[in-house]
Amino acid sequence: MSVDDSILFAEWLRLREAADAAARAAELVDLVRAGPGPRVVHDLGCGTGSMGRWLAPRLPGAQEWIFHDRDEALLARAAAGMAGVRAADGAPVTVRTRPGDLTALTAADLAGASLITASALLDMLTAAELDRMVAACAGAGCPALLMVSVTGTVAFTPVEPLDAEFAAAFNDHQRRTVDGRTLLGPDAVDACAAAFDRHGLPVRRRPSPWRLGPEQSDLTVAWLTGWVAAACEQRPELAGEAEAYLRRRLGQAATGRLRVELGHDDLLAGVD
Ligand SMILES: C[S@@+](CC[C@H](N)C(=O)[O-])C[C@H]1O[C@@H](n2cnc3c(N)ncnc32)[C@H](O)[C@@H]1O
Repeated sequence: MSVDDSILFAEWLRLREAADAAARAAELVDLVRAGPGPRVVHDLGCGTGSMGRWLAPRLPGAQEWIFHDRDEALLARAAAGMAGVRAADGAPVTVRTRPGDLTALTAADLAGASLITASALLDMLTAAELDRMVAACAGAGCPALLMVSVTGTVAFTPVEPLDAEFAAAFNDHQRRTVDGRTLLGPDAVDACAAAFDRHGLPVRRRPSPWRLGPEQSDLTVAWLTGWVAAACEQRPELAGEAEAYLRRRLGQAATGRLRVELGHDDLLAGVD
């Protein structure tokens, strides 16, 4: 990723951080019990570190977070963003960063982990990459808390007949093949649950939808603009309808008349 792209991507992650935090199924965190010693948490695809900022203050006891990402600029932001973050009981939280491709991680790389987390990651993987990641998590022998993975559902209020067409095109775009890699997109949550099941690990699944309304209009505008553009890239024949559709929807967002519920799921694997 170029420096400019990385900055734009970081801005997108900043915009979505509050909606992700509000969406996550916090009750799953209560099921993650502490073991002896400081808790070692690996965050896969950490981006700017929003999962650490959300989760570390919800977990008691000293923690060492290990942030994984292939983008070193994002990793630096993630580490800086943990300054001053403490555990639920005020215990210290330390951070290390590991640049690199998370799809190459093995159980040995995750040895000693108490918890593996990710947020908004799974749809970006292929089936083979996801299977490898799950095998590494299973081999590490600790719970995995994988949150805010898109499921492909979108519900607008008010409804328009074109919504379903754009949604189908967007979901196909998420499943596209890029450089020989066919992405899982909205199929990732089912694939991930099935992969943990093949390793004999229990999986809990909870909905974690974004609920976007007038208070999230900046995020709604950014998401909607990207959503329509991706749909048109996938199905160029939608371009004729797209301009007026987007104008109507952005007008509704600007005047507080648009609500969107966007499906995500959270998975907790490896906890009986
Ligand atoms: C959508 S972002 C989510 C970031 C963060 N977890 C959050 O919720 O804000 C996905 C992140 O995963 C990283 N990522 C995706 N595939 C990766 C790979 N194969 N190896 C390392 N990092 C990867 C991207 O660089 C990006 O920072």
